[in-house]
This record gives sequence, structure tokens and C-alpha cells, in this order.
Amino acid sequence: MAEAWLIQPSGPLVGDVRVHGSKNAVTKHMVAAIMGQGPSTITNVPEVGDVEITAEILRAVGAGVERSAGAVEVTPPEEAKAEVPLSFSGLNRIPVLLLGPLLHLTGEAFVPRVGGDRIGGRPVDFHVKALRALGAEVEVTDDGIRARCRRLRGAIIELPYPSVGATESALLSASLAQGKTVVRNAATEPEVLELALFLQRMGARIELAPDRRVVIEGVPKLRGARTRLAGDRIEAFSYLVAGLATRGTVRVIGCAQDRLVTAITTLLRMGAQVSIDEHGIAAFAPDGLHAAAVQTDVHPGFITDWQPPLMVLFTQAEGMSVLHETVFEERFVYVPALQAMGGEIELFATCLGGPACRFHDTSYLHSAVVRGPSKLQGTEVEVPDVRAGFSSVIAAATASGPTLLHGVRHLERGYHRPAEQLRSLGLTLQEK
Ligand code: UD1
Repeated sequence: MAEAWLIQPSGPLVGDVRVHGSKNAVTKHMVAAIMGQGPSTITNVPEVGDVEITAEILRAVGAGVERSAGAVEVTPPEEAKAEVPLSFSGLNRIPVLLLGPLLHLTGEAFVPRVGGDRIGGRPVDFHVKALRALGAEVEVTDDGIRARCRRLRGAIIELPYPSVGATESALLSASLAQGKTVVRNAATEPEVLELALFLQRMGARIELAPDRRVVIEGVPKLRGARTRLAGDRIEAFSYLVAGLATRGTVRVIGCAQDRLVTAITTLLRMGAQVSIDEHGIAAFAPDGLHAAAVQTDVHPGFITDWQPPLMVLFTQAEGMSVLHETVFEERFVYVPALQAMGGEIELFATCLGGPACRFHDTSYLHSAVVRGPSKLQGTEVEVPDVRAGFSSVIAAATASGPTLLHGVRHLERGYHRPAEQLRSLGLTLQEK
């Protein structure tokens, strides 16, 4: 695996990109599958680092995981081990989701501290509270989380914020619990819904009620199931923006329009033209782009993972744009690198471009004002997280002069064969 990429200015990026199942869904499906009474098969699986990390975690608790072209087959453990080894500490966000499934399989569970991108504090208190509500005894230590329970029991779980991960934790934990669980203020992101649908195929009884309520009637057992993942909306948007920012045009194949509705409207507002048909979605801006004000939000709002590529696009649009990040308090960690490349961006702790958010009375720099267009210069960049990594690639592709990107493993954790895809669009990229 390469440590760094050297990117040379290469003109407009043009061509087709096929996106695969989403990184944020596949790993959760793999976790769900260990609760079945037979093997499950997931297809349209992306080749991303997170799948391999998750496969290793599941093997460590006794499951079988076989990968073949575009598919993953998970065989539940015959005799599950209750502990995820400490060596998996800090690698991704998956271990915490295993607490509920491991409790069902063994009556106890230990998972090490979770990792994932450093885009905020990312506590797991909602997960812990949900498990306690379901009757588990949970102890949080410096190393991780230990839980015990002979049988989880249905409960009312009120989430303080519609967290994707905590909703998924609740779905996984409640499906085999005794009795009914109601999750209030649940996340409704498409990837969460996709997991709920997979669990339904496995035999779970899940009802999506109005007002962000999810009702789960526990069943005594689940079976193995088969599903094809839907195309990754985050990857799709990243490539559409890569085309637009370089004054080229990328057509994305394999991602449904309804997963991109808010993103498409944002691009249209900025003056882009978007063509959508049964073959794919393409964006181009023959007359250039203009500024916009955008706030990230929970579904169906503008997803926070679309924010880093949009920031780069703002540096190439005419006028003053505003970006208000309301989901993760430290998601602008990549901005200094973009400023160093010549992006005119100022960060503020106040809420700009939308109503006050949870970070209003904090000193987190979570609003940005961007003046464009800027001529970006290539430089040396350390990639801090997966989405920021791709936005640095887009910035490098628009820049004059070469850019050396370090830490591309972050990028490879979440994008399907990114170097190959980017080269096929015309980017000159050398792996180091
Ligand atoms: C998932 C996605 C991530 C996406 C995010 C929001 C994966 C692997 N990652 O992350 O790409 O950006 O959803 O769509 O699927 N929170 C707490 N306590 C908790 C849990 C969450 O305070 O126990 C807070 C977080 O700090 C954050 C907010 O809730 O401010 C939303 O986080 P959440 O929706 O849980 O994100 P993840 O599931 O971690």
C-alpha cells in the first residue's frame, strides 16, 4: 500500500466512475450477519480498507469472512469469543457496534476503544446509554467497554441527537432482545435504513414510524440473508465535484438519484448543470460556478461527509460562500492545508449560514467563509481523515504545480481503488 501520492496538474478530469456499495453500510451489514443462524452474502462490496479491518475484527470473535470479487460472505461463529482484541483499538468505528451482537451470542462482550476519523470528540455515550436501557451492565474503562447481560430486554431509547452509529447500535442490539424497543430521535440516513432492511431480511421485525421513531420487536433468532448494497453517495458526490472543480465533467454510475437529491440541488444552485438518466449522473459547469451558503445536517439535509469536497469547490466558485458544519465540531481540520494551497478561507466559532446549532456556545471553529475563485498552488499535505483526503486530491487536481499527499491510507480506507479511478479520469498520480 502506498504511503503517499504525487499529483501533477493534469487539466480537467473527464470520464465515467462506477461507485460501489457504501463504506458506511457494508461494515454494519457484516456485523449484523454474525447474528444469523447461517451465512449471509453481501454483494456490490467496495474494495475499501474498512472492509478488511472489519473482516479481521469478525474473524477475531470467531466468525468466518470470505471475500471474493465484489462480495463478502459472513459465517456466524460456532462458538463466539466475547472479546475483540485490544489490537483493534482505534482502527475504525465498528467495535462498539459489536457490543449488542456479542451479548446475544455469549452474554458478555468487551470491545476496545473505537477510532475512525478525527473530526470531533466522537464519544460513544449514546451507545452505552442505549445498552444500559436494554438491561446490560456496562463498564467503560480506559481500554474500552465491557458489557454483560444474559438476555437484552426491549426498552425505550431516547437519543439526545439522531446519531447514525447509536441508531445502528440500537437496531443491532434490539433485533434479538426480548420484547419491544422504541428508538426515539433515531437517525434516518439511507445507510441506517439499508441496515434495517438487511436485518428485516434476516428475520428482524422493524417498523419505521413517523417522527424519527423506530420500533423493533425482538425475535428469538435471525437467519442468514443476501443483499446487494446501494451505491455510495459520498463517493459519488466526491467524484462529481472533482469533475466540476477542474472544469471537467465526471459521470457517476451506480448511485441512485434519491441518495444525492440535496447534493444535486446544491450544485444546481451554484450554477452547475446536472444531467441524470438511467446510465448515471453527470455534472458540468460551462459558465463557471458561483458562491452558495450551505449548512450540513442530519438526513435529509446536506450530509457532513459532502462538506470537505464542497469546500474545495467553493474555492473555485465566484463570490463569497458560507459553510456551516453542524454535525462534527472539528471537521475543518483539513482547512489549514487548503489555506496553505492558496484557498481564501476564514473560520468562525459562530453559526453562519443557518440557524444556531449545538456548537453555538462553544469555541469550535465550525463555520467557514470562502472567497473564490482562488488559484491553488500545489504543496505537501498530510491527510487527516478519509473525506478530507479526497478533498485534498481535488484541490491538488485544480492546483498549479505538484502536490505530495502523505497518509493516503486514510483515503484508501473509504474509497474504492481511488488511484485507479482518478487516473482513468485523467489525473497524473504517482504512488510512493
Ligand atoms: C457516521 C458515518 C460518518 C458520518 C456520520 C454522520 C460511519 C462509519 N460513519 O458516523 O461518515 O459523517 O455518521 O452522518 O458510518 N454523538 C455523541 N455520542 C454518541 C454518538 C454520537 O455525542 O454516542 C455525536 C457525535 O459526536 C456527532 C453526532 O453525534 O456530533 C453525530 O454522530 P454519528 O451520527 O453517531 O456519526 P457516526 O455514526 O460516528
